[in-house]
Order: sequence, then structure tokens, then C-alpha cells
Amino acid sequence: MKKGKKLIVANWKMNPGTAAEARSLFLASRRAAAEARRLSVVVCPPFPFLSLFSRLANGVISLGSQDACWRNGGPYTGEVSPEILKDIGVTISIIGHSERRARGETDDIVSRKAQAVVREGITALVCVGERTRDENGDFFATLREQIKASFSKVQRRFLSDIIIAYEPLWAIGRNWRDAATPEAVREAAIFIRKVMADIFGDAGAQALVLYGGSVGPENAQALLRDGDIAGFLVGHESLEPDAFAWLTQIANDL
Ligand code: PGA
Repeated sequence: MKKGKKLIVANWKMNPGTAAEARSLFLASRRAAAEARRLSVVVCPPFPFLSLFSRLANGVISLGSQDACWRNGGPYTGEVSPEILKDIGVTISIIGHSERRARGETDDIVSRKAQAVVREGITALVCVGERTRDENGDFFATLREQIKASFSKVQRRFLSDIIIAYEPLWAIGRNWRDAATPEAVREAAIFIRKVMADIFGDAGAQALVLYGGSVGPENAQALLRDGDIAGFLVGHESLEPDAFAWLTQIANDL
């Protein structure tokens, strides 16, 4: 990831089903990234595909993981450590995605994982976001508590390796029309940086915030222009090579 560049992170989730499909999707994403040199583009495939791509990245596109363990080494069956991820070339780890939180990952685990990856020199992309919104804006209090708890174990000196993804649960995996509006994203991004400033002081106010939740070529421009964000975490649209190329081109040209 390069400083000052907008950042597009592709979260493939548990897709695609075969190494051959993954390779072809990766090469298409790399072509899109090569046409969008004003952006930093990161692909987060399922773990087994990461090492397939280590040598294909070529400095055009970076590798990210969808999770990481909070420990390096030891009796943790099924886990993958920050040390292993670093060794195969991972530069960003998504931490605390809502789909993992839904499977029992607590704020405390999220904060341990974030601290573990930044200690290894990997950027932690920490996901936060409310489940639902209410007219009174009470969800902001929930969001504040989630952010505070999700960073409770993170040391201030690693703050430059922290990025926050604002991913309201109600907007994930839908049509772009159901995504958060640029105004709502802007309000949330300002709020998140304020909470980060409360926790970490002035440096917290500089934290980069991405938006994720049904981002596609149709809403990318308005969100980037008016959302006060540094880029996107893109789910299902990152599995469609044409849509992803279009999206990166829009972000690049802005
Ligand atoms: P979506 O997913 O783009 O499919 O809404 C985003 C995410 O969950 O990271």
C-alpha cells in the first residue's frame, strides 16, 4: 500500500471454488490494477490461494488475508499466524469482519488480532459497523463501544499500520441501491476518526477509513467524492472481473 493513494481492497470471501478460477480472477484483477496506477489495489483470497499468487503479484497488486491468528506459532489447529502471512507476502489483514464476528469473534479477539498483525509489520484493516440504524442515532453509541473495544489491545505506536473499514451490516451483500449513502458514510467516517482521536489522541484523527457494503461501479464515484473515505472494501463485485475493472477505473480517474 502506498501513502496518499486511494485503496481498493477486494474481499473474495469463500470464493471461487477452484485454484484455476482463482488464478484467472487474480490475473484479471491484476490487469485492472495495472490500468489504475493511482490506486493501491489489494486482493484478499481464501488462505490456500495466497501462496499461489505470491509470485504473480509483481508489485502491481498486493496480497491481503481475510483473517489472522492472534498468536505466532503454537497449538492452534486451523489458525494461520501473522508470521506465516508475512512470509508469503501478505501486506494487509482484514480483521474482525462482521461475518467472523457473527461466528463468535469478540471485540477482545479482534483487538488481539489487530495488535498481532501490526507487530509483524502487516497493516490491520479492522472492520466495524452497526447491525441496524435507528432514527435517534443511538447506533453511534454502539459503534463507539465497538471501536473502543476493538482497539483496546492495540498500541499507539502501531497506529500508522491501522486502517478502519466502516461496514454497516445492513448494507453488506446487497444491491448498490441498498448501500449506505455518501452522506451516511461521511458522517460515519467523521465519527470513527473522532472516536479514534479519543482513544489515541491527535494521530487517531488521521486514521484512514474505507467503506464496505455493496460498493459497485454504480455508486463508487459518489461515495469516494462525498464520503470522506480513503477507498473501499469490495465484496461480491470483486468477483466480477468487468465490474471490478470498471470500479477501479472510476476510482483511479477521480
Ligand atoms: P459486499 O461485501 O461488497 O458484497 O457487500 C463487503 C464485505 O463484506 O466486505
